[in-house]
Amino acid sequence: MDTDTDVKIRPADPTDAAGLLALQATLDRESRYMLLEPGERGTELPDPSYRLICFDGEPVGYVDVSVLPYARARGTGYVVMGVRSSHAGRGLGRALLEAAIARAHDRGLRRLELTVMTHNRAALGLYLRCGFRIEGLRRAALHIDGTDIDEYYMGRLLRPTGTVPGSAVRDSRNLSATPGHVRASARDTSSADGTADGPAHTVKASVLRSGPIIKV
Ligand SMILES: CC(C)(COP(=O)(O)OP(=O)(O)OC[C@H]1O[C@@H](n2cnc3c(N)ncnc32)[C@H](O)[C@@H]1OP(=O)(O)O)[C@@H](O)C(=O)NCCC(=O)NCCS
Repeated sequence: MDTDTDVKIRPADPTDAAGLLALQATLDRESRYMLLEPGERGTELPDPSYRLICFDGEPVGYVDVSVLPYARARGTGYVVMGVRSSHAGRGLGRALLEAAIARAHDRGLRRLELTVMTHNRAALGLYLRCGFRIEGLRRAALHIDGTDIDEYYMGRLLRPTGTVPGSAVRDSRNLSATPGHVRASARDTSSADGTADGPAHTVKASVLRSGPIIKV
């Protein structure tokens, strides 16, 4: 991609490890929205199923997609991403996420999912813009500076799902949102049509924060 003349996105390789660790440490310091606090990351670089990296001379953004190795979960990728504040608002986050979605299609994944703090407006806007839907609420999932923080579960289907009839949760709160305006509505989601762009399901999402993963 060429959002800016000198900015490139490509798959990461082992030679990127030091640059990526430095990028993640920077993001942990400058953003209130990453999972880890400054200093918690250590020297181990997570090894996702695939990773794309955005360069402007040095790494300025990345997206990781991780897939569990178990047969029943192999179609789902968990997304983690970040763009340096110096490069935010220039379309890099969107370019990274769209590239990750394209690769997920190529690798035969059926679904991408992630979690995001409910007050992270930029990330929420990006994910909605890229076709993710809010599927659930993780109440008080995180505790930051003495405050409980809610997170949304978000998901994006990549192809028709063939959902088992009745697997959507009846009478549960179905959350939907648009950038800058988040709303919650009580709606029965059991009539979801199982297509990639069909109604949002309120089902329990799996979260791949840690544990074994496979290369896809
Ligand atoms: C969230 C993040 C990845 C967005 O990346 P970015 O490069 O700034 O985003 P882009 O410029 O590509 O914007 C893409 C879309 O996101 C949305 N968006 C971006 N910034 C926004 C903001 N401040 N408020 C609302 N929506 C915003 C818009 O919908 C935008 O599309 P549009 O410009 O066509 O309307 C980046 O800000 C970031 O890494 N933040 C810190 C770490 C973080 O929050 N990571 C995600 C944790 S879940």
